[in-house]
Amino acid sequence: SNKISIGILGLGTVGSGIIHILENHKKELIAKTGVADVEIRKVLVRDLEKNRDGNLDSDMLTLNAEDVLEDPEIDLVIEVMGGIDEAKQHMEKALKNKKHIVTANKDLIALHGDELLEIAAANHCELLYEASVAGGIPILRSLTEGLASDRITKMMGIVNGTTNYMLSKMTREGLNYEEALQQAQDQGFAESDPTADVEGLDAARKMVILARLGFSASVQLDDVYLRGMSTVTAEDIAFGQQLGYTLKLIGLASRSDEGVEVSVEPVFIPEEHPLSAVHDEYNAVYVYGEAVGETMFYGPGAGALPTATAVVSDVVSVIRQVRLGTGKAQVAPTINEETVLKEPE
Ligand code: NDP
Ligand code: HSE
Repeated sequence: SNKISIGILGLGTVGSGIIHILENHKKELIAKTGVADVEIRKVLVRDLEKNRDGNLDSDMLTLNAEDVLEDPEIDLVIEVMGGIDEAKQHMEKALKNKKHIVTANKDLIALHGDELLEIAAANHCELLYEASVAGGIPILRSLTEGLASDRITKMMGIVNGTTNYMLSKMTREGLNYEEALQQAQDQGFAESDPTADVEGLDAARKMVILARLGFSASVQLDDVYLRGMSTVTAEDIAFGQQLGYTLKLIGLASRSDEGVEVSVEPVFIPEEHPLSAVHDEYNAVYVYGEAVGETMFYGPGAGALPTATAVVSDVVSVIRQVRLGTGKAQVAPTINEETVLKEPE
């Protein structure tokens, strides 16, 4: 039959959102893909005893990755367990077993995306990762499809939900740093180790992915000039506010004749600037293309359901591409451009 069977690695914040959407939007998914059914077959977790929301059959849960990766019935693997080495090994195995992959894992894609995309191509599989940047905003698809005809020269934005949430709570509700971080963790926005959020590494990983796809350039994490917000205090924020500025963690990627420059750092933004009105876990990405001019993409940048929409939309894309025989939406051919490291100011 033309039923699609899915294996999921991880059932935390994002995994639970995916189950919710696959169940609640099943009719739409079937209508939009033309398959007879989209079923979840196995889900890898660490702890079988954990209390979990939703009505997932408990015998679908497994502690053994092979139950997902070696099951010949599974067509597509969704990786939402996070981490680097283990997730990479699982993905490689899944691809070698001819399973398509959808992932939200920016850590892995920023570090090993090129290698994994090559393995996917060699195995005639899709590897999509829309959810890895800016949660529910379809920004990667917009760069690779919507703006495919243009020459993009600048991207700037707020691409980490946790730090934007923290800065909003510290600015607007007077929370201190620890309280604001705790709330972001409680809501499932932060990474399991939030150091990557507050040190700006998560935003740097996302800017690397944006720069690769937007500029068709080979950009690596080491190329990013990075300053996080772990030293930002409520006093800094209040001082900026008195002068009419809002503090935001800003990612910037630009391309000129000299090459590509990527940075992430806290920046005081004038209150009248549209980015200063991006609050809580929301993200925004400004994209400048030579032909289109200025565009701006806005939406929730973290959280279960917004992120899961991006994952499940990738699942729809994979099914369509496989059925139509087209493909490789997000494999960026590299145009050789120099990458330059921004000098610290
Ligand atoms: P969580 O920590 O909430 O969930 C991780 C899940 O993976 C848990 O179900 C856990 O099992 C399982 N897991 C982790 N390691 C292993 C392992 N070694 N073996 C088996 N199972 C494992 O993470 P999130 O859902 O927040 O994030 C998942 C991914 O999505 C990450 O790559 C993250 O960066 C990315 N992401 C997250 C967003 C968000 O808003 N949270 C937004 C965009 C991307 P158990 O439940 O048993 O502990
Ligand atoms: N920890 C990330 C954030 C999750 O806060 O933006 C979304 O990628």
